[in-house]
Amino acid sequence: MTNPAPTTRFDPLALLRPAIRDLVPFSSARGESAGLNANSSGQPLVWLDANESPWPPYGDFAASCHSNRYPDPQPQALREQLAKLYGVGADQILMTRGSEEIPDLLIRSFCQSGQDGVVLCPPTFAIYQIHAAINASPVRMVRLRPDHGYDLDVDAILAGWQAHEKLLIIPNPNAPMGHLMNNGQLTRLLDGLSQRAMVVIDEAYQEFTGQPSWAARLADHPNLMVMRTLSKSYGLAGARLGALIADARLIAKLAGVLPAYPLSAPTIAVALEALSPAGLELARQRRAVLVEQRQRLAAALAQDPAVLTVFPSCGNFLLLHTTDASAFMARCQSGGVIARNRSADLPNAVRVTVGSPEENDRLLQALAKTANSF
Ligand SMILES: Cc1ncc(COP(=O)(O)O)c(C=O)c1O
Repeated sequence: MTNPAPTTRFDPLALLRPAIRDLVPFSSARGESAGLNANSSGQPLVWLDANESPWPPYGDFAASCHSNRYPDPQPQALREQLAKLYGVGADQILMTRGSEEIPDLLIRSFCQSGQDGVVLCPPTFAIYQIHAAINASPVRMVRLRPDHGYDLDVDAILAGWQAHEKLLIIPNPNAPMGHLMNNGQLTRLLDGLSQRAMVVIDEAYQEFTGQPSWAARLADHPNLMVMRTLSKSYGLAGARLGALIADARLIAKLAGVLPAYPLSAPTIAVALEALSPAGLELARQRRAVLVEQRQRLAAALAQDPAVLTVFPSCGNFLLLHTTDASAFMARCQSGGVIARNRSADLPNAVRVTVGSPEENDRLLQALAKTANSF
């Protein structure tokens, strides 16, 4: 009997551009001194290593965040909080300026400009294509299948895969529609592309789904990377904080591609508070309200004479197929409510964010008042 051939585990570093794999990253002053705060006799340290101002600027908030000092590039306390939140190791987390920075980082790191490509599945989040264009990376579009509930066309993605295609990026839940992709199909893609390409699952709206994160499957799929954001469920869109979750060695390499100080001191301070036990509990309660309001809005909007379809959504938004997107937007605006025309994704589509109960009242009142005039 012959022994089965030894299976070598795929090393995701092999897919990085050689220049990134071999990069000697910049060593920042604060990166080198991270964790130091007193000398051996317990005296506080005097920081004369980074050409900063010794004084904080005017304003209590700036002073409380030590805004005159460069922050730790990947502050350990925040990293550990996020690791706990997402159920992974701290070394598997890379914090970024919003999750929007991640497609840019990944395309620059895996795709040789003008040569290596990205596969996207529209309707999808528009920013991926823009970052591919900035990097002059060819994009192959494999549309979701409207005849199968806007599922992934796994056969077309795999059958058409070419050697220069390094990344597949999939928002899950989908944006702009809001539905979850089929787990079996995602697994087929991860298996079918193992050794060949990285699969990026963008979980910007995961907290609203009630389903487990793909981060729990990282150990099974070395070519999986997961994007998370603090912008939605944790109310930090204005602070700009996202996280890439991936293989720890890959995270260490990608950290060297980011700017020397990617996170601002105020961002770090507000995020630590938002992720404190009290902050997490508040976010949990608010999420429950939004999920309830999503149901309420979906049911009410389905009754509107100009709404043809309310797409089933697991996120904090609803996509509507309307008879006329511009007219629908005008009706919202007549009540002071700003929705988003997504006709670029699907003809006459309008996306509405699920707001607070009072904000949703305003939307429904505006629509009720104009129901006969569209
Ligand atoms: C699917 C998806 N991914 C990522 C983002 C970016 O979020 P942020 O950069 O605020 O983390 C958004 C924002 O709307 C989104 O819809």
